[in-house]
Amino acid sequence: MSGSDAVAGRVFVTRPLPAPWLVPLRDAGLTVDAHDADDPLPTPALHARAAGAAALWVQLTDVVDAALLDAVGPGLRVVATYSVGTNHIDAAACAARGVAVVHTPDVLTDATADLTLALLLAAARRLPEGQRLVETGGWRGWAATQLLGMELRGRTLGVVGLGRIGAAVAERALAFGMRIAYHQRSARPEVAEPLGASYVADLDRLVAMSDVLTLHAPLTAQTRHLIDARRLALLPPHGLLINAARGPLVDEGALVAALRDGRLAGAGLDVYEEEPRVHPGLLELPNVVLAPHLGSATVDTRRAMADLCSSGILAALAGARPPNALA
Ligand code: DGY
Repeated sequence: MSGSDAVAGRVFVTRPLPAPWLVPLRDAGLTVDAHDADDPLPTPALHARAAGAAALWVQLTDVVDAALLDAVGPGLRVVATYSVGTNHIDAAACAARGVAVVHTPDVLTDATADLTLALLLAAARRLPEGQRLVETGGWRGWAATQLLGMELRGRTLGVVGLGRIGAAVAERALAFGMRIAYHQRSARPEVAEPLGASYVADLDRLVAMSDVLTLHAPLTAQTRHLIDARRLALLPPHGLLINAARGPLVDEGALVAALRDGRLAGAGLDVYEEEPRVHPGLLELPNVVLAPHLGSATVDTRRAMADLCSSGILAALAGARPPNALA
């Protein structure tokens, strides 16, 4: 934004954020009004607080639907979400009202890929089981067959969705000697070739050939329960499922059953079907790594995401098309 682009109005921020992250908005002359608790506002209170705002700054747990947009009113110009995922936003309703939607692509790719590898390694080497053994005093010393895990070299990593994050995960897995295969609607040779990744047009075939299956697809009506009981049964019994994308990509009940019955060796999850609720069956299983949606949770990444939200809001309010706007 150039210094001459005047912006005005109120930004409603749905959750508390560190004050320095909001400085660019305040410096530009905007009024910043932030909800002061991490618990979401009940819908009527959210509608009342957001009414009249020129911009909303939301997070992935806030549903942005037509009712909210109507409650905010015709002065709303932009919704910025503090996430790369936008499945919680009714993009068509925003477009119909001329409201831009900005999100946070690219800046969280490395952090999310790192976390995915952390889940993969922890599940492959059974770290949660090891930690519990040590913590509970059950460890009796080195033993030849204790907690034997999966060696990664030469194993196949099946990547569902070779977008920015999927490709960054594949790049890291290559360093561990894994072979990469991927599935999505159409092949991406420009991304796949440098990774030596082979395209598998049939998702069932990818699942069946994967030692580790990692999910990096957006959540849409088509991808909900993409990994259901039938597809889980295609994974080999020594296989691992990793999900740091969106919980509803996986039928959690079916996953619990597969793990409990020993039809799958383990899983590493950062996301759940009904966050923050975690399927009780998952909590009872030894062979799962459970993280509380930490994909982008590094100091640098969260700050960069905030900068993208504020620059997107300022650009949209100045009448420009923010580079991080949804198409
Ligand atoms: C996102 O940005 O969509 C992530 O899930 C947040 O960590």
